[in-house]
Amino acid sequence: MKLSHSSITLLSLISLLFLSSISAQICQRSCGKQILTFPFGSDPGCGDPRFQQYVNCDQQKLTLTTHTGCYPITNIDYTNQVIYISDPSMSTCSCTQPSKGFGLDGDAPFTFHDDTIFALLDCSVSSSPIYTLNGLYGDGNNSKAPLCDNQGTPICSYLYSCTPFSTINLPISTCCIYAPVNLGPSFEMDLKKLQCTSYSGLYSYNGQESNPENWKYGIALKYKFNVNNEYPSSCAQCEKSHGVCGYTGPYNSFICNCPNGLNTSLDCFFGSSFNNGLRLLPWKNGAWLMYILAWSLVWVLL
Ligand SMILES: *[C@@H]1O[C@H](CO)[C@@H](O)[C@H](O)[C@H]1NC(C)=O
Ligand SMILES: *[C@@H]1O[C@H](CO)[C@@H](O)[C@H](O)[C@H]1NC(C)=O
Repeated sequence: MKLSHSSITLLSLISLLFLSSISAQICQRSCGKQILTFPFGSDPGCGDPRFQQYVNCDQQKLTLTTHTGCYPITNIDYTNQVIYISDPSMSTCSCTQPSKGFGLDGDAPFTFHDDTIFALLDCSVSSSPIYTLNGLYGDGNNSKAPLCDNQGTPICSYLYSCTPFSTINLPISTCCIYAPVNLGPSFEMDLKKLQCTSYSGLYSYNGQESNPENWKYGIALKYKFNVNNEYPSSCAQCEKSHGVCGYTGPYNSFICNCPNGLNTSLDCFFGSSFNNGLRLLPWKNGAWLMYILAWSLVWVLL
C-alpha cells in the first residue's frame, strides 16, 4: 500500500482540524507530584471556592497562603482529610532560625490537627506573657497561666539536645510546648507578642519518640467539605466521568470541567448539557468517531 501525496496532505489537514477542536482542560488533576481532587483545585474556578483562595498551584507547587506567609503543602491525606505543610522559617533538629510564628486566617476552612505540637523556643522567661503572672488572659488570677504544657517537657529536652540548640546552650525553661487549643479562636501564634525567638512544629515522632532527628516537622491541618462533611454527590459524579469539579459565576455554581475543556453542569458523560447550551458527544467517544470517519475518508480516497 502506498499513500499518495494528496491523501497524506488530507490526512494531516484532518488531524489538524481534529486537534484544534480539543481545547485544554483548565482544571489540572495534579500539581507537581501532588494529586489534586476536590476540594482542592489548581486554578481559580477549580475545586471548592472556599479552599481556592487559600490553596493554589503556582508553578507546579501547591501552596497554602495565610496572613503570616506562604507554605508549601508537602502532602494531602484525602482519606483522613488532613493536609501537611512545611514552614521554611520553622526550626527543626537540624536548624534553628528566627521566625515570626504561624497563623491561620479566621475564615480559612482549616483547623489544627490534634497531632500538631508546637514548641515555642528561646522565650524570654522574664518578659514573655507565657511565663508572667496572670499570663495572657489577665483574669486577675494570681496563678501562673497554664499556657505551657508540662507534659511536653520531654519534647523540649529532646529538641534542646539537638546540635543547633545544644551549642547555644539554652536553658530548658525557655522552651514551651503549646498545644493548638491554646492558640485561641484566632489560631494565632505571634512569636513577637509571646517574646520567643523561634518555634518548632511537629506532627509525628515517626515511631521514635526519643530521636528528634527523625521526627516529622511541619504542621498538620484538618479540613471539612461542609458542615456535615459530606462529599458533594454532584462532584463525585463529575469525577467518575473524568471531569474536575469547579465553580463559576457570581454564586459559585457547581461546574464539571471536562477533559475536552468544556464545562457542564452535570458530568462529562454522553447527554450532559454543556454550559453553552449545546449537546455534544463526550470527548472520548466523539474523538474516536472523528478518527474513524477521518480514516474511512482516507481509505475511500485511496
Ligand atoms: C470552564 O471552567 C473553568 C474553571 O472554572 C474556566 O476557567 C474556563 O474558562 C471554563 N471554560 C469554558 C469553555 O467555559
Ligand atoms: C485561678 O487559678 C486556679 C488554678 O488554675 C483555679 O483553680 C481558679 O479557679 C482560678 N480563679 C479564678 C478567679 O479564675
